[in-house]
Amino acid sequence: MTTTAPAIRVTSIEKSYDDLHVLRGVDFEVAPGSIFALLGSNGAGKTTIVKILSTLLGSDSGAATVNGYDVTTEPLQVRESISLTGQFAAVDEILTGRENLVLVAKLRHLPNPRQVADELLERFNLTDAGARRVATYSGGMRRRLDIAMSLIGQPKVLFLDEPTTGLDPEARIDVWHVIADLAKSGTTVLLTTQYLDEAEQLADRIAILHEGRIIANGTLAELKALLPPAKVEYVEKQPTLEEIFLALVGKNEASQNTEVQS
Ligand SMILES: Nc1ncnc2c1ncn2[C@@H]1O[C@H](COP(=O)(O)OP(=O)(O)OP(=O)(O)O)[C@@H](O)[C@H]1O
Ligand SMILES: [Mg+2]
Repeated sequence: MTTTAPAIRVTSIEKSYDDLHVLRGVDFEVAPGSIFALLGSNGAGKTTIVKILSTLLGSDSGAATVNGYDVTTEPLQVRESISLTGQFAAVDEILTGRENLVLVAKLRHLPNPRQVADELLERFNLTDAGARRVATYSGGMRRRLDIAMSLIGQPKVLFLDEPTTGLDPEARIDVWHVIADLAKSGTTVLLTTQYLDEAEQLADRIAILHEGRIIANGTLAELKALLPPAKVEYVEKQPTLEEIFLALVGKNEASQNTEVQS
């Protein structure tokens, strides 16, 4: 690869809803094959940025390209090279998981939709649940199915708007593994999150959106360097609540069985 063109480039984007000036000049770039996390409080404008980049919403001014295509003048090319998993799962409740996948594969005109569906069910640990209606799925299963659906057709850039909101710690970690694997295989991922640990664990770069602008953008180490070093204190390392939860709940059925027998 000789090209280092960014997979996503956002320049001076502004957006208002009536007199609410949400984006006031947003700039950032995302390198191909990297994971970029957009952090911000409720209402900061994260979903608005995702909608503009996925051509669902027009900006008032500024420019953005995705895979080299301009979101305003080349929306079809942008749509062909991206996939979006929205903040609220877009799966069809009445259909089974497998039927949802087959449907999307057919919509994307793939030659072998059933095979595509079965491979994705396998990859996302949903093979056993594949024949069940989505209405019976847990939140984590829906999220995994939602992400699986967004991978059909192998998009180069994936937008994930709060991929793990509402999931329990185990399901979140499952989704993190999926996202990390995607980036390893060359997919560029832009995700929004309100979980700082999610950004810490996953992202190559982290940007903070605040009052309409990106107020910080860097690697975790770069962001840490923005703060003065913490005073060193000698205290026992306490496990985090997440570590305790995972230890007690167990990551697999085997540990549940031991618990029953003891
Ligand atoms: N269609 C709309 N019409 C009017 N206001 C809107 C519209 N969509 C979003 N807003 C407002 O714009 C602001 C930014 O919304 P946005 O959904 O982009 O925030 P967000 O960072 O994704 O928030 P959250 O973390 O809650 O998902 C909010 O104040 C929201 O109320
Ligand atoms: Mg949002």
